[in-house]
Amino acid sequence: MPYSWKGQTDAPGRGTHAGATGVQERIQFMRKLKVGMIGGGGPGAFFGKVHLRAISLDGTRELVAGALRSDPKAAKAAAVEWGIQGFGDYASMLNAWKDGDIGLDYVVIATPNHAHFAAARACVEAGMPVLCEKPMTLTVAESEELSRLVTRKKVPFILAHSYTGHPMMMLAREMVHGGDIGDIRKIESWYTQGWLASALEQSGQQQASWRTDPKRTGISNCGGDIGTHAFVAATWVSGLNVKKVSARLNRFVKGRVLDDDFNVVAEMSNGATALITATQIAIGYKNDNGFRIFGTKGSLEWHQEEAEKLLVRRGETDQVYWQGGGFSFFPKAVASYLRTPAGHHEDFFEALANLHTSLEREIRSRNGEKVPPAYDHPGVKEGLAGMKFVAAAVKSSKGKGVWTKV
Ligand SMILES: NC(=O)c1ccc[n+]([C@@H]2O[C@H](COP(=O)([O-])OP(=O)(O)OC[C@H]3O[C@@H](n4cnc5c(N)ncnc54)[C@H](O)[C@@H]3O)[C@@H](O)[C@H]2O)c1
Repeated sequence: MPYSWKGQTDAPGRGTHAGATGVQERIQFMRKLKVGMIGGGGPGAFFGKVHLRAISLDGTRELVAGALRSDPKAAKAAAVEWGIQGFGDYASMLNAWKDGDIGLDYVVIATPNHAHFAAARACVEAGMPVLCEKPMTLTVAESEELSRLVTRKKVPFILAHSYTGHPMMMLAREMVHGGDIGDIRKIESWYTQGWLASALEQSGQQQASWRTDPKRTGISNCGGDIGTHAFVAATWVSGLNVKKVSARLNRFVKGRVLDDDFNVVAEMSNGATALITATQIAIGYKNDNGFRIFGTKGSLEWHQEEAEKLLVRRGETDQVYWQGGGFSFFPKAVASYLRTPAGHHEDFFEALANLHTSLEREIRSRNGEKVPPAYDHPGVKEGLAGMKFVAAAVKSSKGKGVWTKV
C-alpha cells in the first residue's frame, strides 16, 4: 500500500516556502507524516518516550497509533495515556493500515530485542517503512533474513543507532571520507557505563531484567546493548569493516549468565587496528560513548556526553569544531540537520530526531516531494554487521581470545 489512506485529504508534497536554511527546508510540508509505534509504552518504559519526543520535535511528524506493550489490554491502556489510537498487537495495527482504516507513513519498533524481528519482518513484507531499535534482532540468522527482505522489497529502513544522528559524529564521518585525517591506522571506540555494576536485575528493574536475560536480549548483554554502538562508531564513521576479532568478555556480577564487560581487538578491512570496548560495571560512568580515530594526517576525537564538539588534532595545535546551525564548515549534507545557532544545545533528542528526519526524507522523496537528501544513517547493512561482530566476539571469548573471522 502506498503512503496514503482513505481518510487523507492533504496531498503530500504541496510545498509552500522553500527557505534558504535547513530549518525552513525541513518544514515546507502541509501534511505531517503519521507514525505508529510497536513497544515503548507503559509506566516503566524508557526509549519509547524518547522516540515520542523525537518524532514530534520538528512538527513534521506525529505519533498517531501504537501497539505499545506485549499484553493487549495494557497496550491499549498505554495508548489512551498518550492520546493515540491503541492496538492490542502490531498485526492488528498493520491490518488496520492495510484496510485503509488508519493512515501510517512509518513504524518505530521500540520493544526489547527479541520482539524486533517478527514486527520488522511483517512491516517490511507489507511495504511499511521502519525505524527499528538496535541491536537489529535476537540472532544473526534473523538479521540475515531481514536484511535480504529489506533489500528485495526496497523499503526504507533505519536502525536506531541514535548517536549517529549527532551532527558532530556526522561531521567526523564526512571528514574521514573527505581525506582530512589521511589513511586510518588505529581506532579506539568505547561505551562505558556503570549502572549494572551490581545485580540490579534481581530487584526486578525493567531495563536490567530483559537485558540480562538471553531469551530477550540475545547471546550478549553488554556487547549487544552498547558494544554495537561502539562498533558502529568504529565502522560507520571510518567507512571500514571489521575482518576479525580477538575478544575477552567478562561476567563480573554473580548470578549473571551473560557478559557485563566486553573487550575486543579488531582487525579492520584496511589492516588498521581497532579497540572496541563496552562495559556496564564502571562505577560512576553514565553514557560515556565516543571514539578516537588516528590517521596519517591527523586525529579525530568525539565524546557523546559532550556531543557538540569535535576535536581535530593535526600536529602542534588542536582545533575544536563547535556545533551550530549556519556554521560554514559544515558540509551541506550535515548542515540541513542543524536546527539552532551555536550555544543553544542540540543533543540527545535532536540526534534521535535526525534519524527520524532521514527516514522522513526518504519517504517524502519516494512520494515525489522535494526534500534535502537523506543522510546515510545506519540500516540493515550495519545492523547485520553488528550482529555478526557480536557473535564473533562471543565465539572468540569462549576460545580464550582466539582470532575469529567476522
Ligand atoms: N538507540 C539507543 O540509544 C537506545 C537506548 C535505549 C534502548 N534502546 C533499545 O530500545 C529497545 C527498548 O529498550 P528500552 O530500554 O526502552 O526497554 P524498556 O523495557 O524500557 O521498554 C520496552 C517496551 O517494549 C514493550 N514490549 C515488550 N515486549 C513487547 C512486545 N512483544 N510487543 C510490544 N511491546 C513490547 C514494553 O512494554 C515496553 O514498553 C531495545 O531494543 C534497546 O536496545 C536503544
